Amino acid sequence: MENQQKIGIMTGGGDCPGLNAAIRAATKTAINEGYQVIGIHNGWEGLMENDTEELTRVKTSGIIDRGGTILGTSRTSPLQVENGARKVFDNFKKLGLTALVVLGGDGTLSVSSKLFDMGLPVVGIPKTIDNDIRGTDYTIGFQTAVEIATQALDRIRTTAESHHRVMLLEVMGRNAGWIAVYAGMANGADAILIPEIPLDDEKLDDLCRMLVTRKSRGVNYSIIAVAEGTILRGKTVTREFVDAAGEQPRPKYGGVAARLAEIIEKRTKLETGVSSLGYIQRGGTPVAYDRSLATVFGVKAITLIQAKSYGRMTALRGNRITSVPLSIVAEGTKPVDMNAYRTAERFFG
Ligand code: F6P
Repeated sequence: MENQQKIGIMTGGGDCPGLNAAIRAATKTAINEGYQVIGIHNGWEGLMENDTEELTRVKTSGIIDRGGTILGTSRTSPLQVENGARKVFDNFKKLGLTALVVLGGDGTLSVSSKLFDMGLPVVGIPKTIDNDIRGTDYTIGFQTAVEIATQALDRIRTTAESHHRVMLLEVMGRNAGWIAVYAGMANGADAILIPEIPLDDEKLDDLCRMLVTRKSRGVNYSIIAVAEGTILRGKTVTREFVDAAGEQPRPKYGGVAARLAEIIEKRTKLETGVSSLGYIQRGGTPVAYDRSLATVFGVKAITLIQAKSYGRMTALRGNRITSVPLSIVAEGTKPVDMNAYRTAERFFG
């Protein structure tokens, strides 16, 4: 129908389990409320290139349990591409969109906030396994990553115990320690290393002393959960990725656990193994919690659009589904809840 209002929906930044559950919920709710839904491929790239498809009930059925995103994603920012914002506004108009639902992490939602300030009617849904977005207790994808990391720590525990080794598991999370703390706590890890507590030589001495003490007490293996953004002697362990256009260089974390293992072995003479979960913690089917969180966020996003309440992001506060201004994302990374860390710390050593 010609005068039918249209809502665009896109996924930007790192993928995570639960995106398709949110796409499904937002699409089916919008269609039930009389809107047409336009899926935008590969985040902002698709809106700049007018790369879209109509989303229907049929296309969004049977995807609630599927990892990844049926729309594809990218880390492209229109604010870092020449005329990028202009292309976004021009295509938004050309597509005849009334509003835009953006599923994003801090990068994508920060761009959404700036484009809202420029007049784009946008609503955000917070998603990232890192759970580092301010304004919401949890983001879509976080609980699944914690489940995967906990199961990995459980598996590593049996081989560490059998071989009497120290075992480190490096988990994602960028510059926040949410995954490490919650998975480490759930596993009963003997230490949890996070960006929020930089590792200087004194902290390294304490860690090694704890490992040797455990051994002397006859507990001859240890499990350590290591966040990839852990700061070791003042530095994070990253490599620089520069995209083909050379426009959007960004650091890619990875390798801090291997550095730590070398230090531990040298200082304690305890054999130390290293595993890194990498993208495994970002793939595959979402746990039930993330499917439900994605569903309620998807519905909330459409009710915000119906109320013309743009420039806001769906949020979970306690057990309430609400919304907060998108501008909150610009306040920076949400560091891990140190109360949770201190609780886990009671059981270290
Ligand atoms: O932001 C989610 C995340 O998985 C981080 O935990 C990780 O550091 C980063 O994405 C990896 O980025 P990419 O997928 O571009 O390698």
